[in-house]
Amino acid sequence: MIQRPRRNRLNPAVRELIRETAVRPTNLVWPAFVQEGSNLRVPIASMPGVSKLSVDQLVADCQRAFDLGVPAVALFPALDDSLKSSDGKESVNPDGLLQRAVTELKKKIPAMLVVTDVALDPYSCDGHDGLVRAGKILNDETLPLLAAMAVSQAEAGADVVAPSDMMDGRVEAIRRALDDAGFEDVLICSYCAKYASAFYGPFRDALNSAPKAGDKKTYQMDPANAREAIREIMLDEEEGADWLLIKPGLPYLDIIRLTREHSALPVAAYQVSGEYAMLKAAAAEGWLDYESCLMESLTSLRRAGADIIFTYGAIDAATILRGAGFAAGRRV
Ligand code: PBG
Repeated sequence: MIQRPRRNRLNPAVRELIRETAVRPTNLVWPAFVQEGSNLRVPIASMPGVSKLSVDQLVADCQRAFDLGVPAVALFPALDDSLKSSDGKESVNPDGLLQRAVTELKKKIPAMLVVTDVALDPYSCDGHDGLVRAGKILNDETLPLLAAMAVSQAEAGADVVAPSDMMDGRVEAIRRALDDAGFEDVLICSYCAKYASAFYGPFRDALNSAPKAGDKKTYQMDPANAREAIREIMLDEEEGADWLLIKPGLPYLDIIRLTREHSALPVAAYQVSGEYAMLKAAAAEGWLDYESCLMESLTSLRRAGADIIFTYGAIDAATILRGAGFAAGRRV
């Protein structure tokens, strides 16, 4: 035999030397849930290991993540139902929970990037990402609200605003509003291809943000479609997005690859709540090894073309990576 592919897998030194894809803590964004109160960590039942954190606890965990090399946190506020309204006006309250959390984080850990979510759902009593009238999700009427929300987040200190609402034209509306307010250095991470996925279930439990009526299929994309993603990629790029995010992650590796091939912008993948919950649930049964499967899934997202990965396992992964290092001299 002349061709023996196994020679390239002979030992750790050979394998490390020819490895094509690496996951580094610096590739990761840690999504975190913030709530009112102090010294509070409220576990989310469907996301073992993830809690809703009061601001002081959030700062402590972000410091841990940052010290492990994770450069960014993505914040999601868990609001009391009494603050939710049909126009989501709490989203622009300068003293709102999210705004206070952002300001405190930037004060305590100035070098860590804070990413904020732009969408109405955590603030809306309808549980939709846009304004609802007579069962219809309004597009153009929602845009000024999203733009105002992004400006409010930037005023609080957000480095990156991440519209996850899938309204048409929102990246341009947000870019204009940010620039008009003097925030031309605030980045936009656009959820450009966000699918109408059942994998968001645990996240909606955490925020109690599931739609009260109907579903999100008139704005989030049909899981059956890939060509449609190309159109979204091109529009968001034209409208001024700095990063393109694909969501969910592992079930949509082909879309991540497609995005990588159709744009020169950095590509982000979001390993969503349901993906994380699956790993944790199987591990709890003793059916999968959580750490190995987490690292394998992150490697796969990187191999598909993601520069950046949003993952609830960011702190776990960074901890694992710290212990790994170059392994050729050791048996791994
Ligand atoms: C809503 C939003 C969702 C997620 C992030 N932003 C849920 C949804 O669209 O219903 C999901 C994240 C996850 O499941 O981890 N704007």
